[in-house]
Amino acid sequence: MSQSKKNEATTNKLWGGRFAEPTDAFVQRFTASEAFDRRLASQDIRGSIAHAQMLCAQNILSPADLAEIEMGLSQISDEIAQDNFDWRVDREDVHMNIEARLTEIIGDTGKKLHTGRSRNDQVATDIRLWLRESIDAVTLQLTRLQRGIVELAAAHAATIMPGFTHLQVAQPITFGHHLLAWYEMLDRDFGRLQDCRVRLNQSPLGAAALAGTTFPIDRMMTAETLGFDGPTRNSLDSVSDRDFAIEFTAAAALITTHLSRMSEELVLWTSAQFAFINIPDRFCTGSSIMPQKKNPDVPELVRGKTGRINGHLMALLTLMKSQPLAYNKDNQEDKEPLFDTVQTLHDCLRAFADMVPALVPNQENMRNAALEGFATATDLADYLVRRGVAFRDAHEVVGNAVAHCVAESCRLEDLPLTLLRSFYHDIDADVFEVLTLEGSVAARDHIGGTSPVQVAAAAATALKLLSSR
Ligand code: ARG
Repeated sequence: MSQSKKNEATTNKLWGGRFAEPTDAFVQRFTASEAFDRRLASQDIRGSIAHAQMLCAQNILSPADLAEIEMGLSQISDEIAQDNFDWRVDREDVHMNIEARLTEIIGDTGKKLHTGRSRNDQVATDIRLWLRESIDAVTLQLTRLQRGIVELAAAHAATIMPGFTHLQVAQPITFGHHLLAWYEMLDRDFGRLQDCRVRLNQSPLGAAALAGTTFPIDRMMTAETLGFDGPTRNSLDSVSDRDFAIEFTAAAALITTHLSRMSEELVLWTSAQFAFINIPDRFCTGSSIMPQKKNPDVPELVRGKTGRINGHLMALLTLMKSQPLAYNKDNQEDKEPLFDTVQTLHDCLRAFADMVPALVPNQENMRNAALEGFATATDLADYLVRRGVAFRDAHEVVGNAVAHCVAESCRLEDLPLTLLRSFYHDIDADVFEVLTLEGSVAARDHIGGTSPVQVAAAAATALKLLSSR
């Protein structure tokens, strides 16, 4: 904008008293937040109603004042819901847009609403209310996804696949067992979201600008009206604390990190080289040049979104680093990263919750893959240990047998008993049961093991837990 451009901004009516000239037009737009914090409108209105009711109960406002304020706020609520609200950048943020409109509607009584309150405790209250609801919405999607995973796991408690370490075939496992590992990651995430919710659920309302207020307010009452567990304990901390936003975003970063791990596996498994899984067409897209392509876009995109949420976490941590007490305008920058984190996380979880129950495993390919790579070599070593061989010696014996198979391009279970006995004398025909994939998984029959019995039991327990949420 050219230097000579006239300053077209007006002095803000809500705080302009001490100002000798209007705010610079660009500064007005630069410092305004109404374009994004309008998302807090319903929380702001609820906070204002709770505050006004408390002021009335404490004889600071008259019942007639309260009735007018409630009427005006309810009209504003309708205007916003019907997209009929005139959001104004000269009114800076959601709080002053609503307050100024209230005064337009009900007249001078509207000017009493801000008694004993500041935008500093107001915005702290609004974000906590908003994030509390967002955590509940995100948790709902997380639970849907967990349920989808567990149901698939229950259906595949006995479906064999290779388990990997270093992305090399390690030991046979069941597909259900692998899925329940995903479930466990997400269950810790559930716990983190709940922890965060408990810690954020304290009411900052009444902290006012930073030091509290001279009016005989009842902070217990507003806390209770707004569904908080109680009021915060220190007014300075109340207006400056954004830990809850960081905690939530950290939890979100870990959730998307988990989703990115699942995504990576799905991308691998849907490739022609693995061909373990088919993702139905409705979750995939094609290529504009290669007619044969069907790409696993949902897991790829979710994998990519992880970077975005990690970025928001860094933004919020850096925002709060070195901030002196109490409120600083810096804090206006908490909103966009937080809003986008919630939206992104919610969409990622929703996409996964929709997709996971529709995954179609190719059981034959999974089983065949487990037959490669000597997946039951540890079972043979364990067999020898049961025959009195020390594990380290058994490891060596089986290593020799595997080397022989590699040279001969055959599998352990293909070796005739006589040949097996050349590696260790005391081996009997029952060894072949131990070398089967089914025998291998069934033998790992303890809490947390991959046997179909254990997997089915773990899935049943998880389902019961989920239905009690
Ligand atoms: N829009 C501000 C924010 O988001 C509200 C609080 C502003 N308080 C102040 N004293 N400027 O943080």
